[in-house]
Amino acid sequence: MAYLSALKSEGKTIGFAPTMGALHKGHLSLIEKAIAENDVCVTSIFVNPVQFNDKKDLDSYPRTFERDLTMLIDAGNHILFYPDEQEMYTAGTDYSVNINFGYLLQTMEAVFRKGHFEGVAVVVKRLLDIVQPHHLYMGQKDYQQLLVVKKMIETLQMDVQLKMCETIREANGLAMSSRNLLLSAEEKEAAQKISSVLFEAKNKINQHPFHKIREESIAELNNYPLLKTEYFEIVDADGLQPVEKASSANGLAICAAVRAGSIRLIDNIIIS
Ligand code: PAJ
Repeated sequence: MAYLSALKSEGKTIGFAPTMGALHKGHLSLIEKAIAENDVCVTSIFVNPVQFNDKKDLDSYPRTFERDLTMLIDAGNHILFYPDEQEMYTAGTDYSVNINFGYLLQTMEAVFRKGHFEGVAVVVKRLLDIVQPHHLYMGQKDYQQLLVVKKMIETLQMDVQLKMCETIREANGLAMSSRNLLLSAEEKEAAQKISSVLFEAKNKINQHPFHKIREESIAELNNYPLLKTEYFEIVDADGLQPVEKASSANGLAICAAVRAGSIRLIDNIIIS
């Protein structure tokens, strides 16, 4: 990373997009934005074991390195950081991030994936310490993750500006995700229902009490073959606390985690 500090001392701005690989157009949108807004774009690929609460999920996580490399070259990415586990986590070193994330770690993904965000905080902190970018690019697709990282940056007063990039979707509305590679044709067909129910919920937001929208949405998802909802929540977009009715003051986020067959997918819509 001496090369990066040299670039920085020449006054070059660094944009950074951390990923776990199996790249798709959602990742590329982060990279394209980082290229457009900075002199140098750094992308990382590291399937971070400490954020997986389920060993099977870690083992089956798609790994498509050769293809990723071609996509990065085609996109014009400047630097790829592709560390191995030893490089990221020296044995015997404590990398834990000991800050109070408050309610962000008590709801939705944090409940269903115990320890997940603690692991995300550790790896993002470690990556930021290594890369030391000016700008960090993350997707709205993983909105709770983005808020966790935002809180970490603020609390630790890290010298980096977080930029949220909108969710990129397939033509049928399905949010792009590396995990989509694991879906069978039937599961993929079912999975497009997730975004359509989210958009329907958004359209009902000024007409129905939120608990009713929530119940109807969960029923609609669960009635569809192969789908099983883990949560479907309408929450305050800043702190993720549940909200019961629309208020003009705060933005809302509608967030869902749904299993399509055995594959767990998340998606959300933000209403500002
Ligand atoms: P990964 O799932 O590979 O996602 C890397 C980045 O791409 C995240 O910021 C994510 O929100 C964004 N992203 C994924 N799908 C997207 C889509 N359809 N549209 C826009 N952006 C999308 O998230 C992680 O990896 C890891 O937890 C990581 C932050 C790298 C830490 O290990």
